[in-house]
Amino acid sequence: MTSVTEETTAPVLAAAAAAAAGLTQKRVPIPPRGVDYRGKIVLAPMVRSGELPSRLLALHYGADLVWGPETIDRAMIGTTRRVNPRNHCIEWTRVPTNNVKKELFDESVIYRIDPVREAGRHIFQIGTSDPARAVECAKLVAADVSGIDVNAGCPKPFSTHAGMGAALLRTPEKLVSILEALVAEIKPAFDIGISVKIRLLETTAETEALVRRLCATGITGLTIHCRTTPMRPRERAIRGQLRMIADVCHEFGVACLVNGDVEGRDHALELMAEYGTDGAMIATCAEKNGSCFRAKADGGLATWEEAVAKYVRFAMEVENKFHNTKFMLTQMVPGKSPKYRELTPCKSYGKIIEVLGLTGDEELVEMARRTDELMKLVTLDGSSSSSSGNDKSKVEAAGDDKKKHDLTNNVAQQENLKRKREDGDEETEKQQPPPSMRINVSEAGEAATTAAATSVAEQQSSQPVAAAVAAL
Ligand SMILES: Cc1cc2nc3c(=O)[nH]c(=O)nc-3n(C[C@H](O)[C@H](O)[C@H](O)COP(=O)(O)O)c2cc1C
Repeated sequence: MTSVTEETTAPVLAAAAAAAAGLTQKRVPIPPRGVDYRGKIVLAPMVRSGELPSRLLALHYGADLVWGPETIDRAMIGTTRRVNPRNHCIEWTRVPTNNVKKELFDESVIYRIDPVREAGRHIFQIGTSDPARAVECAKLVAADVSGIDVNAGCPKPFSTHAGMGAALLRTPEKLVSILEALVAEIKPAFDIGISVKIRLLETTAETEALVRRLCATGITGLTIHCRTTPMRPRERAIRGQLRMIADVCHEFGVACLVNGDVEGRDHALELMAEYGTDGAMIATCAEKNGSCFRAKADGGLATWEEAVAKYVRFAMEVENKFHNTKFMLTQMVPGKSPKYRELTPCKSYGKIIEVLGLTGDEELVEMARRTDELMKLVTLDGSSSSSSGNDKSKVEAAGDDKKKHDLTNNVAQQENLKRKREDGDEETEKQQPPPSMRINVSEAGEAATTAAATSVAEQQSSQPVAAAVAAL
């Protein structure tokens, strides 16, 4: 798939903005297999919302680099790497340890990349609080990615209670030791760079002191999320410290990305020019519509219908988990569209493309049929499965599929509610299911894998995850 930016003027503009931001200054050398963050407008790491199809969508519309969702070191350690023979994606999998999960699923995919379409553009983000574990985790993926990033900005208790995420901002010596270990052991062995993503500290002096220490570790890039740890996602990002942070990074030759309320490529370029940062990172706007990476001059924001149609195709191509695809559709389809409600009961990809009005595309219909069969979703939406087997096994399989589907659907819905509550959506408080209807994600099997195995909450351990979700 050709990236839109390859044919457009956007990279030229980005380069010009980066030049204006001080490209003539000192630069740390970028390792041969690594990437320079300068002049780049990138997709942010997003648990749940940054899975492979979302990243492919962002790249399709011109994102220069894509971050994978934060993956906790312990979740990756012990996984097996394999190449999916059907689509050639690289997948890191593990056998579930939980008995309920084992009964329903043979294995779970903890992390997945597309080695062709993401080549040279994928950054793996680790959630960690320990240098040795961070290195062990990074070694598993370093040969397949273009950079390793450390999350030092997640403010959620399930991350901070374990000393990860934003807790690292309060233990800078630990954060420094993690970055130093990665720089010493991963950078030379795999020829890729190490970077870090942080939030603002309360005062300019505190932030400056931290940024100086981090830049001195040998990292090649630093992303600043322009909010402090206690700030909610709805509060506007603050830019008061941004120029100083960019200047300190440049003093060390480290590339600086601005994050927080960046709305799209054109806005990113304006911010880069105004505050002197080398690039910009977009999360929420890209979650809603990946075409925000396309400059206005090149067509600008696509309609949600167009973006959703492309997203569903990518999701099927890479065998994305059905519950994650549904979750993403609830982010991308406007709540006021009648399609939003129609999507809720969908139990298969076939039904989704029917609801989205995409059945005119025969290739897509055939793709949905094959994906549903592979994922055993066909029986769930009333179609007959073409898989062989006697009636009893078919009935049992259908029962298992229904159980799996009910779990995935519940997880998707509860993730959505949880997310809205975390974002301070008061309406969501009223939508809480009664306790009897709430599920325990630790028992929800791999239905919850995206959330359970790769999210900040879920990866750490099943206990806090179950608590977090059950507490909805
Ligand atoms: C759904 C979602 C998941 C996120 N997951 C991560 C993550 O895995 N790692 C991380 O460093 N930040 C994560 N973030 C924070 C974003 O990367 C970003 O810093 C934040 O949303 C601010 O950018 P924005 O204003 O463009 O949304 C997440 C944000 C959202 C909305």
